[in-house]
Amino acid sequence: MKHTHILSTGSYVPDNVIDNATMEKLVDTSDEWITSRTGIERRHISVDENTSDLAYKAALDALEKASMKPRDIELIIVATVTGDYLFPGVSQLLQKRLGCETVPAFDINAACTGFVYALEIADKMMASGAYHNALIVGAEALSKLTDFEDRNTCVLFGDGAGAFVLERSEKSGVNAITVKSDGDTKGHLKLEGYPLKINFKTPEYSLPFIKMNGREIFRFATQVFPAVIHELLEKSKSTLKDLDLIVAHQANKRIIEKSAKTLKIPLEKMYMNIESMGNTSAASIPLAVDEAITSGRLKRGDTFAIAAFGGGLTWGGAIIEY
Ligand code: ACO
Repeated sequence: MKHTHILSTGSYVPDNVIDNATMEKLVDTSDEWITSRTGIERRHISVDENTSDLAYKAALDALEKASMKPRDIELIIVATVTGDYLFPGVSQLLQKRLGCETVPAFDINAACTGFVYALEIADKMMASGAYHNALIVGAEALSKLTDFEDRNTCVLFGDGAGAFVLERSEKSGVNAITVKSDGDTKGHLKLEGYPLKINFKTPEYSLPFIKMNGREIFRFATQVFPAVIHELLEKSKSTLKDLDLIVAHQANKRIIEKSAKTLKIPLEKMYMNIESMGNTSAASIPLAVDEAITSGRLKRGDTFAIAAFGGGLTWGGAIIEY
């Protein structure tokens, strides 16, 4: 039986590291508050690289590890909410810069769940038989959308990118996948878009920043994360014991701890790199998976779950035999 197999993973983060001591100089906060409430100690903040630069470097890393030439890639999907432009998309800039053939390349926006949506789309497009492989990337320069005067949000986010090279093959791969949404009409987590031009007049507006009701998002995340794992286990006819690792969206250490408790699994089964990355939205899961593989925490033959939740509201996950 054919699966969507992970041929390789790659990642990239900008060199510039901002620790909590620097955050203390920007807003009324403390290292103690940030680490105890979120688990974040530092984050990478891009100075001169835009989202497509981060995506390019993560994609190159993944392609090199797969020993694949860019011209062999048949499909490119980039999950991002921080594209260099509204159009062209990061995916199309990436296609050109990598030197891929004129293959389909498109961006998707499902906020922090974006990478799981990209995996779902690539999985189904490849299962149709139309494509044999795909490059999927989660890339974000969230610092562009962050208000560094708002202590409720600015301590949380970081920049980076992660990539998977996928192929449809008889080898191990995606065993179950699910993606979901529930329209956030109350605006618990949002970024304003362009305002309408009433009577063709351009209204005055300032650049928008991410706004978040942290408590609501915390409540939502700790509900859907364990629920998604149970749904995936049922779909793949497996149990928690079959999972070697769970790689969740890195939004808050306490969300991961609370979910581990609900699932009744040891915290060691939950991969965490939030202390060094912060919340990198769509990049968070591929970054963490690449790190887990590079450090030897995830090995060929292991079975792991990914689970994401965030703006939209969106959530989802997958169980993958690596
Ligand atoms: N430093 C010091 N104090 C702070 C800070 C800060 N950086 N931020 C908030 N506070 C204060 C608040 O003002 C509040 O003060 P008050 O009681 O006087 O009003 C107090 O700390 C408690 O605030 P809460 O919001 O209740 O703090 P909480 O323990 O819930 O932690 C947090 C806040 C970390 C944001 C948490 O709610 C959280 O992680 N939520 C989920 C965020 C998330 O997962 N986002 C994911 C999606 S992001 C995306 O999709 C782009």
